[in-house]
Amino acid sequence: MAHILVTGAAGFVGAAVVGALAARGDRVTAFDIAVSPGLRKVAGQYENVRLVIGEITECPTVMALFHEDPPDCVFHAAAIVGVIASVRAPIRTFEVNVQGSINLLEAMRLFGTRRMVHMSSEETYGPFKSAMIDEDHPQNPLHPYGVSKLAVEHLGRGYKERHGLEVIHLRAIWVYGPDLPRVRVPNSFIDAALAGRPFHQPFGADFICDHTYVDDVVDAAVLAIDKAAHPYDAYNVGSGQGVSLLQIADMVGEMVPGAQLSVGNAPYRHGDESFSVDCVRKGALDISRAREVLGYKPKFDIRRGLAAFLP
Ligand SMILES: NC(=O)c1ccc[n+]([C@@H]2O[C@H](COP(=O)([O-])OP(=O)(O)OC[C@H]3O[C@@H](n4cnc5c(N)ncnc54)[C@H](O)[C@@H]3O)[C@@H](O)[C@H]2O)c1
Repeated sequence: MAHILVTGAAGFVGAAVVGALAARGDRVTAFDIAVSPGLRKVAGQYENVRLVIGEITECPTVMALFHEDPPDCVFHAAAIVGVIASVRAPIRTFEVNVQGSINLLEAMRLFGTRRMVHMSSEETYGPFKSAMIDEDHPQNPLHPYGVSKLAVEHLGRGYKERHGLEVIHLRAIWVYGPDLPRVRVPNSFIDAALAGRPFHQPFGADFICDHTYVDDVVDAAVLAIDKAAHPYDAYNVGSGQGVSLLQIADMVGEMVPGAQLSVGNAPYRHGDESFSVDCVRKGALDISRAREVLGYKPKFDIRRGLAAFLP
């Protein structure tokens, strides 16, 4: 039984990872700035989950957490998430995503925690140069979100070099599933279809991206936490397949009789008509490395993932 500190534990991914670790008997310290209904439910189910409310940007708070009960491993998911949030609040994005990560790395160094598994992002790549990319693709992010995640990747390498820490980055792409806490496809299609509400996605009919069902991300997280020795420090985590928004809308239309969904042809933008930001070219992630090294086997292609939402 290991002791795992999960940051961002109240979040969409964090709460699911807390649940998976607690279910198999790990002792979990679930750290977040607030408690969500999802985390409260998991904490109610398992005695081996301890909730700690705190602000990751406050160094003394993070130090106290490690001083009291140093974890064997950190699963780090706390962040300001997404391009839109980061463009709206670039300073806060860097405070939480970068300064918060440094606080953790410093605490790990001082209190002897060797491994962090960090939720990085495909946004660190910037524009995809081809329809499918692997981990060696250049990393040229354009927006504060991707830049902040790439900064953490580089910081992790420095801590490895100087202090022997092992900081592993999961470059996940467009994670979805029930209760995604932001407005985005495919949730916006499913929500509208189930509510019987017509929905027009104004841009992105031909926009191709990989979409990762949340359970698959949880599997990748647990595999990365457990791997005895990592030959790489970064892994793509996706379904391994690109699909256009029009194809997704059509699939939802087949699955929910009477769904009224349409997608406009303009280039895809993050956000909605009230505030949006250009999206770079995306595509599919080549997940061969995660498959071969971690034993990652995504269970959900987009059709299975969409079906998993439906009542
Ligand atoms: N959801 C995706 O599509 C996706 C894709 C790639 C990578 N990621 C990464 O995965 C991680 C989890 O994403 P998510 O979708 O669960 O997002 P989320 O917003 O649901 O979770 C982030 C959590 O971080 C917490 N947090 C934010 N600021 C904090 C602070 N100052 N102190 C303590 N906690 C704070 C939030 O309260 C929230 O619970 C993030 O690091 C994100 O960048 C997500």
